[in-house]
Amino acid sequence: MLSELRQSISKRLSSARFAHTLSVEREARRMAEILLPHKTLELCAAALLHDLTKEMSLDDHLEIMQRHRVTCSDEARLGGAVLHGFTAAAVISEQFPLFAREEILSAVRKHTVGDHEMSVFDKILFLADYIEQTRTYPDCVSLRESFWSRITSIGKEEREAALNSAVYTEIRQTISHLLKKGAVIAPESLALYNRMSRCKDWQG
Ligand SMILES: [Fe+2]
Ligand SMILES: [Fe+2]
Repeated sequence: MLSELRQSISKRLSSARFAHTLSVEREARRMAEILLPHKTLELCAAALLHDLTKEMSLDDHLEIMQRHRVTCSDEARLGGAVLHGFTAAAVISEQFPLFAREEILSAVRKHTVGDHEMSVFDKILFLADYIEQTRTYPDCVSLRESFWSRITSIGKEEREAALNSAVYTEIRQTISHLLKKGAVIAPESLALYNRMSRCKDWQG
């Protein structure tokens, strides 16, 4: 099932994007085996599908949004770099019905800007995309190293807290990077940041 999906995705993406996609799949699989073992297959599928529409034009994104009546904030509408999470979820429903399960669609939809409500499944894809092994940006590298050294050295009951802590670091780094560039910040990202900032039970 996954090998057929991998083949189908390879035909739709550039080789660089496909290499990133395979790396996100490896990272998501490794995380799933520790954090959500019964959902490993679904998380691998979500990883393979997450950037399905990333290389489309803005016009194509807007056409998909209109045809599928996809809603998102006005700020998230500004460019393909963010919109592709929303449009990929719509295209999966249409073209990959076998994988159109709500947990997969949700994680793909939220992987670019995050959301106020994120499940462990959503957070695994969100983090795997950011810290996968081919990323060389220093913030990604240091979070990858700290996440893996922590998650592999703690007990089962502390693992979700380690995931939350890494996602919180990711959203802070992403927002800080956007602020430095003077870029627009999607309210979905601010909602995730605010929610995690208020939640103290996992913060060490
Ligand atoms: Fe993406
Ligand atoms: Fe990605």
